[in-house]
Amino acid sequence: MSQQHRLAGKLAIVTGAASGIGHAATRLFAQEGATVLAVDRPGAAVQAAHEGCERIVPFEQDITQDSAPAAIVAAALRAAGGIDILFNNAGVGTDPGDAIIEDETWDHVFAVNTRAVFRLSREAIPHLRSRAEQTGRARIINTASVMAERTDFGLSAYASSKHAVAGLSKTMALDLGRWGITVNYLLPGAIYTGMTRQRFDQDPIRKVWEKKTALRRLGQPIDVARAALLLASDEADFITGHGLVVDGGLTLRI
Ligand SMILES: NC(=O)c1ccc[n+]([C@@H]2O[C@H](COP(=O)([O-])OP(=O)(O)OC[C@H]3O[C@@H](n4cnc5c(N)ncnc54)[C@H](O)[C@@H]3O)[C@@H](O)[C@H]2O)c1
Repeated sequence: MSQQHRLAGKLAIVTGAASGIGHAATRLFAQEGATVLAVDRPGAAVQAAHEGCERIVPFEQDITQDSAPAAIVAAALRAAGGIDILFNNAGVGTDPGDAIIEDETWDHVFAVNTRAVFRLSREAIPHLRSRAEQTGRARIINTASVMAERTDFGLSAYASSKHAVAGLSKTMALDLGRWGITVNYLLPGAIYTGMTRQRFDQDPIRKVWEKKTALRRLGQPIDVARAALLLASDEADFITGHGLVVDGGLTLRI
């Protein structure tokens, strides 16, 4: 394998791997030499998304299930005998404009965006730690959002869940640093994915968001995947507890 493969020989878990940012990161990590456990549901979607791709192991799992962390970690160990990188990326949004939301919506958003991040990380930590003992490093990367620092109308559950991801990431960075595990989080802006396609396919909405963004375009999944690769790579050895904004300048202005 060439020196240019930045994740050669590593095992990465990516959640939300069937679509959007997770799909792009799964492909990019595999191109960079990692074996990737691609977690999503339903199984047919994640299978179809990565059918025939070298080094990608599709794995059906609803990350909110109590049994999910143990099942995902066991599958990763079966695939490659250890875990170097955990990319907690799966997430759900809410319908814009829902100022008053039901318990069920609140609980689901937190179950996917926050609780599952904590629970899967907890399960993976002993394995990340033993890998870091052997190789000098291991990584947790969490996908938050620019809404981890801001908010917008109707985003009470989503923005709260992403603020919590930032707090969790920073605390885990403190707790795990002594073992050589870095923990960082991404703050994507307006990215064209499965989550946002319906809105951004409407011309007037897309134009508003393009105009708000310094680079005058929506982000694409690969833009965020590349930032995840940077944090996953050996080059990021001394970066931890950091929130990396990937928004093309969307949040520069008030
Ligand atoms: N698209 C944006 O503009 C944007 C902006 C900021 C942050 N984000 C965040 O980026 C992350 C990825 O989202 P995306 O935009 O690529 O959306 P997406 O809808 O294209 O992908 C999300 C994936 O997560 C999976 N998922 C959802 N719930 C799951 C569960 N219970 N178990 C397993 N998989 C589950 C979905 O099936 C889907 O494949 C999310 O955390 C999202 O909050 C997105």
